Amino acid sequence: MQALILTGGLGTRLRPLTLYTPKPLLPIANLPFLSYPLSSLRKHSVRDVFLCTSESLIPYENFVKAESRKGTRLVCSREFRPLGTAGAIKNAQKHIDSSPFFVMNGDVLTDLDLGSMIRFHKEKESLLTIALIPVKDPSSYGLVRLDSRQRVTQFIEKPSPSNSSNHPTYLINGGIYLLEKEILDRIPKGKPFSTERELFPGALSEKIPFYGFVASPRTYWIDIGTPEKYLQANEDMRRKTKATVRDSQIKIKLAIHASAQISEESVLGDGCAIGANTVVRRCVLLDHVTVGDDCILENCIVGNRVRIGRHSTVKNSKVIGDHSLLTPFSQL
Ligand code: GDD
Ligand code: MG
Repeated sequence: MQALILTGGLGTRLRPLTLYTPKPLLPIANLPFLSYPLSSLRKHSVRDVFLCTSESLIPYENFVKAESRKGTRLVCSREFRPLGTAGAIKNAQKHIDSSPFFVMNGDVLTDLDLGSMIRFHKEKESLLTIALIPVKDPSSYGLVRLDSRQRVTQFIEKPSPSNSSNHPTYLINGGIYLLEKEILDRIPKGKPFSTERELFPGALSEKIPFYGFVASPRTYWIDIGTPEKYLQANEDMRRKTKATVRDSQIKIKLAIHASAQISEESVLGDGCAIGANTVVRRCVLLDHVTVGDDCILENCIVGNRVRIGRHSTVKNSKVIGDHSLLTPFSQL
């Protein structure tokens, strides 16, 4: 079986971090984000994976080699301009020889049961299946309504409050799909086309077999696309993967002063140095960050090789881009 991962967005909500590192390679608990979906796919024998992107592949080179050693063949399907979420799928058509195949948004971290989703898709004889996640507020997502047989009856991308009121939970598009190859015939070639705003509404109006696979309530799911969600994903994965990160031979060298306080949920990258009396609460520090004495860092994301001078304070989901220099006594 094969999978396409959509990694062509610009990651604007995570700028300036994504100016140097593509969103799919940002670390989550010290592992590149993409290594999580690839490892779930391997568990279901999906080892042929295409990254659909319009960006340069150079930042991915080492990652591709590392994944190939784990058994995943990762190939890029390059768009010369962003073709939208469905246009990108069409652009990869020449690589696809399995049916069904998975399509995944390249910023969704989940332990969704892919095996049950495949079984559901086959049992329903579906042509198009979306994984659905229950949430309280659907406004940042695609809202999905189903009939009693789990057939999709409505899909509203980024619903306004009038489309979604008075319900304790809603089902949203979890950004993971199973598609039969014939769905590709519904996407025009070489021009921008949206899965959410064009492909899905078209499939509904033509009444093709289009089903929603509702994730079990225990499923972990998060879109890492905003600073708050990125911090949350790091915190969650740090808790879940403490043992595996240690076992996966990531060598992290840190220089932390004995009087510094680093909270449990913070994640520090390789080569970070933290000064005396400095407090780091729920932060993600990428590699080679140096923080001086007597600083307070809270709920922030600090890029590679940033240097923060003594007595500085950084709070409230601030994102500091790679190589920045904060002079002593900075307040952000
Ligand atoms: N190759 C390619 N080309 N990929 C793209 C393009 C494009 O032109 N545009 C977006 N993508 C990729 C992004 O990199 C991301 O991985 C994925 O498609 C979804 O785009 P986002 O920009 O992150 O969309 P969103 O989070 O606002 O909404 C989407 O995801 C939600 C779940 O997280 C929608 O699919 C919603 O319906 C869904 O609920
Ligand atoms: Mg997203």
